[in-house]
Amino acid sequence: MLKHYFLIFFVFTTLQLRGESEIKMKDIVPEYSGNKVVLLTGCSRGIGFVTALKLVQEGYTVYATMRNTESGKYLIDAAENAKGKLYIRHIDVTNEDSIQATIEDILSREGRIDVLVNNAGWGLKGTAEGVSIDQAQKVFDTNFFGMLRLIQATLPSMRQQAYGRIINISSLAAIAPLPGWDIYAASKQAVETLSEAMLHSLEGWNINISVIEPGPITGQHPQEIGTRFLGKKNPYAGILEASKKWIENQSGITQPAEEVAELIQTIIETEAPKFRYQTNATGKKMADQYFRYNHTSVLDLNSYISTE
Ligand SMILES: NC(=O)c1ccc[n+]([C@@H]2O[C@H](COP(=O)([O-])OP(=O)(O)OC[C@H]3O[C@@H](n4cnc5c(N)ncnc54)[C@H](OP(=O)(O)O)[C@@H]3O)[C@@H](O)[C@H]2O)c1
Repeated sequence: MLKHYFLIFFVFTTLQLRGESEIKMKDIVPEYSGNKVVLLTGCSRGIGFVTALKLVQEGYTVYATMRNTESGKYLIDAAENAKGKLYIRHIDVTNEDSIQATIEDILSREGRIDVLVNNAGWGLKGTAEGVSIDQAQKVFDTNFFGMLRLIQATLPSMRQQAYGRIINISSLAAIAPLPGWDIYAASKQAVETLSEAMLHSLEGWNINISVIEPGPITGQHPQEIGTRFLGKKNPYAGILEASKKWIENQSGITQPAEEVAELIQTIIETEAPKFRYQTNATGKKMADQYFRYNHTSVLDLNSYISTE
């Protein structure tokens, strides 16, 4: 009898303590009132560069990371007279040691990382049949595992401070994949599914996760091309051409990286951000159209099929 009493007392006390610590986690930890500390990957150029610049101009403390920190001097020059603080650091998202070293450095200097923007990405043009397995693995190592490495390294401190924003740069290709970007689209879909799976388990720690789906961005983006049909007749050539033309004919789909940077700032400053964001009206239409047609292609590709 006495044994049962102690058992009931122990379970009751444990549950109460657990309940209390959950309340503490969500309600008692005050919102940090200093300048938010933002860590971005892939800031040597493109979206990462302009987002780091925008955020430091708006007064954030920005850790802009890149593979080759030499490129950081352009960002430092552009950010002259900015309100916030800018620090250039080395992260290759495929290298766990570089991630750990930089995150330890930031935490020892700032005590916190409020926002993680997983931006670094690697493009690969080609059909599933037209790329090598090495090329496909490289895309996943950067776009998916790179993001996962950063998330794993950042979450412990975000959970401890009971605050965090994680913004993963996906692509329209994740939800409306056009032929010719097969592995890239698959890697971005993996980014989205992981983000969606994590969404609710992080809510208790006041950590929000969002994905952004840009379409084509103005400017030059070095892209790798699938090697399996190089020097041979590519049976998908007509399909790839149709896909390229279709994109070119979508007015308003291409946009400057600055518009994505503005959206990232809005998400950081929104109290309860949504999970998924397209970045312009054409992107929204494309996403709706794709879902509306129940995952059928927006292109009519039958006339391009070659049996040679
Ligand atoms: N451009 C588009 O049309 C488009 C459309 C939809 C989504 N996106 C996505 O938007 C994000 C930014 O791309 P962007 O448009 O700004 O393209 P970008 O100009 O090609 O920039 C890509 C950035 O990622 C970096 N990067 C690549 N591999 C890396 C690695 N292993 N470790 C660290 N950094 C690495 C590059 O650094 P290096 O200088 O060292 O190569 C560069 O800073 C990517 O996730 C991309 O997939 C782009």
